[in-house]
Amino acid sequence: MEFTNKVAVVTGGASGIGRAIAAALRQAGAQVMIADLGAERVAAAAREIGATGMVCDVTQETQIQALVAETERVLGPIDLFLSNAGIGVGEPDHAASAPDEVWQRCWDIHVMAHVHAARALLPGMIARGSGYLVNTASAAGLLNQVGDAAYSATKHAAVSFAESLAISHGDDGIAVSVICPQYVATPLIGMDSPADGSDHPGLLSAEQVADTVLEGLRDERFLILPHPAVGEYYKLRAAEPERWLGGMRKLRRTALRETGSLHPAKMHKLV
Ligand SMILES: NC(=O)c1ccc[n+]([C@@H]2O[C@H](COP(=O)([O-])OP(=O)(O)OC[C@H]3O[C@@H](n4cnc5c(N)ncnc54)[C@H](O)[C@@H]3O)[C@@H](O)[C@H]2O)c1
Repeated sequence: MEFTNKVAVVTGGASGIGRAIAAALRQAGAQVMIADLGAERVAAAAREIGATGMVCDVTQETQIQALVAETERVLGPIDLFLSNAGIGVGEPDHAASAPDEVWQRCWDIHVMAHVHAARALLPGMIARGSGYLVNTASAAGLLNQVGDAAYSATKHAAVSFAESLAISHGDDGIAVSVICPQYVATPLIGMDSPADGSDHPGLLSAEQVADTVLEGLRDERFLILPHPAVGEYYKLRAAEPERWLGGMRKLRRTALRETGSLHPAKMHKLV
C-alpha cells in the first residue's frame, strides 16, 4: 500500500509503537486518526503528530463502532485500520496465578478489539474491494512471554485471528498484516522511547519499529518482524519443540538468577 491521502486509524495511538506508527504514516502522507484512553493525552499526541484524535476504549464494541463512524465522517472511508492497543500485566506467581479479570482484560484488548474492528470494517471494505487490517500482536504471539501466560495466550489468539482474516478475505481484496515485535522501549515495559532504546541491541525504539512496519505495509507482508531473530526462534519452535522449551526454561532460570525478576524491562537484556 502507498500511504498518500490514505485514511488510517491507529488504536493505542497516544503512546509507544502506535504513536510512532501514526507519526510515520502521517509523514508518509496519510490522514491519520489516533484512538486511545484519556482525552488530554489523545489531544496532545494528535496535535504533535498532526493527526485527528478520539478517545476510544477498545474493550467496548460500541466505542469501536463510533471510532469507525467518526473517522469516516471526518476523513472518509478507512483504508487502513491498525489495532494496536495493548497491555502487559504479568503474573504474581505461577502460570495460572493472574486473576480472571487480568485474563479477561487481555482477551478483550488483544483479541476482541481486533474482532470488533474487523466486524465494523469488513462490510465496507468488501463492498469497496479494498482495505487493510493490521493487528499488533507480539513475538509472544509466535513464541512466549516468560512470566506472562495471559499475554502469551491472547497474543497467540491475535496472530490466529489475523491469519483467519488473511485466509478469508485475501480474495476480497483485503490485505492483512500482523506485527510481532520482541522488546521495544515503551511504557508497556516500563521504558520510554527513544531515551532507553539503545542499552541493548535486541531492544528497539518505537521509531525503529515504525520504520520496519511501514516497509512491511508497503509490501503488504503478512508477518512483520521488527526483530529478525524472532523468525529464527519461530522456525526452531516448530522444528524442535522440546529443544525450544528447554531454551525457554533456561532463559527463565537465568532471568531469576541474574535479575531476580521476570519483568520485561529486565528480561530484554537476556535475549
Ligand atoms: N513494548 C514492547 O516490548 C512490545 C513488544 C511486542 C508487542 N507489543 C505490543 O505493541 C502494542 C503497543 O504497545 P506499546 O509497547 O507501544 O505500549 P504503550 O503502553 O506505549 O502503548 C499502548 C497504548 O494502548 C493503550 N490502551 C491500553 N488499553 C486500551 C484500551 N482499553 N483502549 C484503548 N487504548 C488502550 C494505552 O493507553 C497506550 O497508550 C501492544 O499491543 C503491545 O502488546 C509491545
